[in-house]
Amino acid sequence: MATTLSCCFTLALFMVILMASPSSSLANMNVIDKCWRGNPLWRSQRQQLAKCSVGFVGKMINNIGKNVVKYKVIDPSDDPLSPKSGTLRYGTTMIKGKVWITFKNSMTITLQRPLLLSSFTAIDGRGIDVHITGTGCLLVYQATNIIIHGLRIHHCKAQPPSTVMGPNAKVIPLGQMDGDAIRLVTARKVWIDHNTLYECQDGLIDVTRGSTNITVSNNWFRNQDKVMLLGHDDGHLRDKNMKVTVIFNHFGPNCNQRMPRVRHGYAHVANNFYQGWEQYAIGGSMSPSIKSEANFFVAPNDVGNKEVTWRKGEKGLWKFYSVGDVFKNGASFNKQTGVGGAKPNYNQEQNFKVVDAGSVKKLTSESGVLRCSRSLIC
Ligand SMILES: *[C@@H]1O[C@H](CO)[C@@H](O)[C@H](O)[C@H]1NC(C)=O
Repeated sequence: MATTLSCCFTLALFMVILMASPSSSLANMNVIDKCWRGNPLWRSQRQQLAKCSVGFVGKMINNIGKNVVKYKVIDPSDDPLSPKSGTLRYGTTMIKGKVWITFKNSMTITLQRPLLLSSFTAIDGRGIDVHITGTGCLLVYQATNIIIHGLRIHHCKAQPPSTVMGPNAKVIPLGQMDGDAIRLVTARKVWIDHNTLYECQDGLIDVTRGSTNITVSNNWFRNQDKVMLLGHDDGHLRDKNMKVTVIFNHFGPNCNQRMPRVRHGYAHVANNFYQGWEQYAIGGSMSPSIKSEANFFVAPNDVGNKEVTWRKGEKGLWKFYSVGDVFKNGASFNKQTGVGGAKPNYNQEQNFKVVDAGSVKKLTSESGVLRCSRSLIC
């Protein structure tokens, strides 16, 4: 009798999860999540994710197909020069062609040196807990078509010049690394989605040296001084072509500045939730264009720091637009007046509908690594 009851109960619960939760929670999801999270078969259909990206990265269709190597990380150890089969570094450097990397179980990978990612690599941490820490951490150098999804990257430390295994099993020399969670150097078409990033020595994301076509979405950034740098340095004119979309992210608590800081290029910063800041949230130098659209800004309580923006350099070259943003707790945005508003001019595959700022808290409530280990629906 007891077994029959508990069996019926399990079945009923199963039905409830299957039938009720997708429809009810799908309504609370943003356009990226809605595209795959309602699918109870997501574990066996992981590549569906690739078609869900929006913004300047476009769709990640080059990362999927029959010729993709499915590689599972089973060993958390790290050897920077001769990576062992089964480790993450082996998957990101030693495998020829396209690779889709998953993890056998939850693990903490302590990198001994920065981890280079080859072109056409997807790292997919969905369903388990993957922590990446140590020196580095992730480095995309002159590579393209990369997905970084569902990772906790934190406590990344600086590394003096070193040599590491690189793409196509070639050992390469690296310069100084400052200790960023994810650093892009001359990288194109990179999608950084649903990661939780915190407490690194330098910053959490660096997009530099001619990198472009990047989307940073659904991440949770917290406990960090310099959060996101877009554009290498004031003298690096190649970054004029940089295009980055920053959407559905949660910044804070305890973030100080650079959410993002932009040099030269263009950033579309939309539908993000800002849970305070210390110095500023959005800033820049070298006449960048920034379109801040329908974000939800909650200013810090400190009376002196209610202003969202920060600028360095000449007067009059600023293109900081604010459209549909919501300002709470006294937040203010010193915008460039004028017409135009720095449109992203997305093509069809990049385009998405920016939602009303009033929905942003709801649509970013599951930013960072998703908890989908126990339920069918991620
Ligand atoms: C980058 O985006 C532009 C449009 O914004 C597109 O024309 C170009 O093909 C993209 N490049 C890559 C490498 O995806």
